Amino acid sequence: MSEQEPTSGSELNEVEQTDKEHVFGTWSFQKEVSPTQVVDSDGVRFTTAAGDEYIDFSGQLMCSNLGHSADAVADAIDEQVRETAYIAPNYTTEARSELGRKLAEVTPGDLSKTFFSTSGTEATEAAIKIARAYTGKQKIVSRYRSYHGATYGSISVTGDPRRLKAEPGIPGTIKAPDPYAYGSTLDPMESVGLVETLW
Ligand SMILES: Cc1ncc(COP(=O)(O)O)c(C=O)c1O
Repeated sequence: MSEQEPTSGSELNEVEQTDKEHVFGTWSFQKEVSPTQVVDSDGVRFTTAAGDEYIDFSGQLMCSNLGHSADAVADAIDEQVRETAYIAPNYTTEARSELGRKLAEVTPGDLSKTFFSTSGTEATEAAIKIARAYTGKQKIVSRYRSYHGATYGSISVTGDPRRLKAEPGIPGTIKAPDPYAYGSTLDPMESVGLVETLW
C-alpha cells in the first residue's frame, strides 16, 4: 500500500495533480481530466488513494481478465523477461509458438494462425490490411455504433463520435446503420439489408 494521504471529494492529491499536469489524458478535454490514483489491486478488487475499494467487474478495459496482480501472471512475465525479453519477428521462442498452438485449439473452424499485436487498434489495422490483401477489394464497411481503436485506420472505421476529429480518415471506409431499434427510425431488419446496398 502507498503512504499517500487520502483525499476527499474532487480535490486531486499530489500524484493525481502531477498526472493531470504531465500526462495527456485520452479522449478528454484536457482541462476536465481528473485522474484517480489506484494504490492497490488484488483479484477482483482495487483501492484508490482516497481509500475507496472497488469490485472491478470489467477488469478495467477488459484487460485484467485473470484478476488484478495475479501471481501466476507476474511470475510468467518475470520468468520470460529474464529468459528473453524481446526478439525480432523472424525468431521465435517456446512461449510464442506454444501460445499460437493453444489459440489454434480454441479458434473456430480451420483458423489455425494468430497475428500477435500489442493492442486492439493494431489488431484492427492488421485485419483491414489482411482483408484488403486477401480480397483485392478496398472498401471496409463498419457500423455507426462501434469503437475499433485510436490509430488512423481503426478510428476511420469507428462509428462513435470519437472519430469526428480524425475525419476524413483513411479512404474506402463506409458506415452502415445498426440493427438496433432504440432511437432509430429504421426497422432493425431493414438496416441489416441496407449493408447490401453499400457496394
Ligand atoms: C471492439 C474494440 N476494438 C478495438 C479496441 C481498441 O483496443 P486498444 O485500446 O487495445 O487499442 C477496443 C477498445 O476498447 C474495442 O473495444
